[in-house]
Amino acid sequence: MCGIVGYMGSERSYEILIQGLKRLEYRGYDSAGVALVRADGSLEVHKARGKVSNLEQVAKGGDTSGCLGIAHTRWATHGEPTDTNAHPHLSQSGKIALVHNGTIENYSVLKQLLTDNGYQFKSETDTEVLVQFIEYMRETHGCDLFEAIREALLRVEGAYAIAVVEQGNPNTMYVARKSSPLVIGVGDGETFVASDATPIVGFTDKVIYLKDNEIGIINRNSPIEIREIDSNEPSSFDVHKLKMSLEQLEKGGYDTFMLKEIFEQPATLRDCVRGRIADDGSRVVLSGIDMNRERFLNAERITLVACGTSWHAALIGKRLIQDFCRMPVEVEYASEFRYGNPVLNEKDIVISISQSGETADTLAAIELAREKGAFVYGICNVVGASIPRNTDSGTYIHVGPEIGVASTKAFTGQVTVLTLVALAIGQLRGVINADRVREVARALKEMPETISETLKIAPEVEALSRIFTYAHNFLYLGRGYNYPTALEGALKLKEISYIHAEGYPAAEMKHGPIALIDREMPSVIIAPSDSLYDKIISNVQQVKSREGAVVAIVSKGNTAMNDIADYCIEIPEVPECLTPIVASIPLQLLAYYIAVNKGKDVDRPRNLAKSVTVE
Ligand code: G6P
Repeated sequence: MCGIVGYMGSERSYEILIQGLKRLEYRGYDSAGVALVRADGSLEVHKARGKVSNLEQVAKGGDTSGCLGIAHTRWATHGEPTDTNAHPHLSQSGKIALVHNGTIENYSVLKQLLTDNGYQFKSETDTEVLVQFIEYMRETHGCDLFEAIREALLRVEGAYAIAVVEQGNPNTMYVARKSSPLVIGVGDGETFVASDATPIVGFTDKVIYLKDNEIGIINRNSPIEIREIDSNEPSSFDVHKLKMSLEQLEKGGYDTFMLKEIFEQPATLRDCVRGRIADDGSRVVLSGIDMNRERFLNAERITLVACGTSWHAALIGKRLIQDFCRMPVEVEYASEFRYGNPVLNEKDIVISISQSGETADTLAAIELAREKGAFVYGICNVVGASIPRNTDSGTYIHVGPEIGVASTKAFTGQVTVLTLVALAIGQLRGVINADRVREVARALKEMPETISETLKIAPEVEALSRIFTYAHNFLYLGRGYNYPTALEGALKLKEISYIHAEGYPAAEMKHGPIALIDREMPSVIIAPSDSLYDKIISNVQQVKSREGAVVAIVSKGNTAMNDIADYCIEIPEVPECLTPIVASIPLQLLAYYIAVNKGKDVDRPRNLAKSVTVE
């Protein structure tokens, strides 16, 4: 989820690159860097941990002239956010500079090959391996830089968008892409490059979207040339007109970060499972579990600890682990766990779940668990945060920076990773059968398409939101896997619209909340066609007999509910254990549109913080 900017023209590139990086900061901001090629061919590189403003401080003392340059803002995936791990990375000779978005999956094999040939590495990144490999190709093939990049990319597995410049050549920049976007902006005597169009807006409205497996040569003295990486044949391209305005920039064209993050979920869930399911779908591969096989084989109990939305994901995790691993599982609020005198020993595994990785209660809970000898596994989004640094092992959810305070894409990422974790442990302990692994793994791989399909209901949910904007109370009901989904739906509404909402197990409603139901109290009922569908129908009837309005979230094609509920929202059918991921989409949208109708600041709701570092 990093950002790339490049410029070649007659202006000083530095200021243009810095401005572009600032516009891309929403993608990640743990470190930034710039490589400039001056007219005399000399190469100057500046890098700094933290925001782009830190980079500006660092570069202040240097020579920032040069009309060709590439720059990058990073959201760490390989290696912690440090100055050294920041891009651009240089080849062994220091002559080739490269910025990269994506992940090089076979980087360890390439790194070994390079190490065997005397190459040394300064950073922990896969990107440094790529730039060194390009230089290795140039040396071993005796070719020019363009050919060396192409030869290297032919041998690389994974996803990338790259921009490359070279010492001694102030007239050429190379770009390439596979599964990671890259845009070329065509100006008057100048060319821009970026990972999305945001840095280009205001400079030119003519853009070329590089396609997968294409490599582009941007030369000061000749027209842009694009070729196929595989065949080296010229590739045709269209120049598109950019419609984005400057105001829309940061949010990638969306009105708010929250809406952008909701709509990003097809892509974030793809990133989340990438490389973690064997190509034939038969196995889940999580290095954090594979490297600690004994601990997982000998474990007698798993305890999940978390706060807020992450705690809701933990409740779903409990069901998943129970179903796939057939072992005892507990879920605790981190704040309760740490003061609850927990009984733990070295046969316990504690899984902490946190988007930010900085939540004080969760951090304290895992410290306590480690003191008591438990093995602590972290599920986190922010790479290099305190929680992953203080756990024995773990898995990142890789959904990119979440800026909206109300968590959306992190929640679906957490549930996805918990599914993978449960599958991996179940496989390791030999308690889940191969067909079940394949069925769930296939559905996880298809999840980006499933979520894209689900998001098509947004206009319908927006229309529905207008009916309920001024309700004072809401009830959210679900059963089984979707009881936690109900809790999360209610939390979303509370957080951003300030409407009181309660999530409840649907069958428990009759033991209390039913007393609240009347015409003024709508209920949102999550009722996909799963093993508890018949049961939940009777819960819907109970609400309807008290004149309560019912919004039912149902599986596509379910017409039976139309006769009972007031409004039905259809979601695609998926295996029961994955219904929380899909069902949470309409709940996020409903909360979002109600808050917008009420004129609330959805990205910065009152009193809340994205990362809660106090007890
Ligand atoms: C805050 C945020 C929530 C989040 C919770 C736990 O309350 O507003 O969205 O779920 O903290 O945060 P974590 O980063 O540990 O997941």
